[in-house]
Amino acid sequence: MSQPRPTVLKIGGSVITDKSKELGVQMEAISRIADEILEANTKNLIIVHGGGSFGHPVAQRHAIKEGFKDESQIIGFAETHHVMTVLNGLFMDALIWRGIPAISITPSSCIMTQNGRIACFEDVPLKQLMKMGFIPVLYGDAVFDTKLGFTILSGDQLVAFLATRFNAKNIVIGVDVNGLYDADPKTDAKAKMFNHLTLAELRKVQEHLGRSNACDVTGGMANKIAELIPAIEHGIPVLIVNATKPKYIYKALKGERVKGTIIEKE
Ligand code: IPE
Repeated sequence: MSQPRPTVLKIGGSVITDKSKELGVQMEAISRIADEILEANTKNLIIVHGGGSFGHPVAQRHAIKEGFKDESQIIGFAETHHVMTVLNGLFMDALIWRGIPAISITPSSCIMTQNGRIACFEDVPLKQLMKMGFIPVLYGDAVFDTKLGFTILSGDQLVAFLATRFNAKNIVIGVDVNGLYDADPKTDAKAKMFNHLTLAELRKVQEHLGRSNACDVTGGMANKIAELIPAIEHGIPVLIVNATKPKYIYKALKGERVKGTIIEKE
């Protein structure tokens, strides 16, 4: 029997960290989201989380995304990866102690990129653990790159890649705003939220999408959307919801009606 199609859930770094303070963690948000994941009890779930105030500031300081140019970046790469494992550990704690059989998969150990794009992914352990009923948890990470030496792999590229490779049923993206807007809702009071977009409509609005102004080496909402397009093209629907609001992730995982933006192929 073939494996049922998974749901891929991304929890943005802006939800689980405090972006105004380097290494600031939102422990309450992590705990609440873990409660919601437990309660939703989604079969075949893959979780990916972002870096927020853990990964981005240190990656930016050492220009990790731009690749290896100088010996002084070596410790910066190690630090970037390390702070991501610390954030991942906090997230894993919340899942494991609730009885969720989550297993952390370290992207830098099983993925190589080429000029920033995933070029190889050793997925045998991940497939095996999913078959056995575990829930893999991955994250945006500092990774090795065949051309650049190293770079930053965003959680969003990882989400689209995993969803496509495992023919996901759907993608849920938890962010700190209500959905996708025609401008940045944090700086533009007139920004209008989309409830539903087809791929063709998304392409038309893509250029107006807000760029994140807080420290974000992977490019904010505009880049998030660009990364998700290949998965949407593949026929996988994406739901963007506000993960800072209680029960939104729960409802999204259960397939219940929830405020947010749905993006579908047609
Ligand atoms: C970034 O991952 C990871 C690092 C900077 C090391 P993401 O790009 O997925 O993080 P968020 O969700 O935007 O914070």
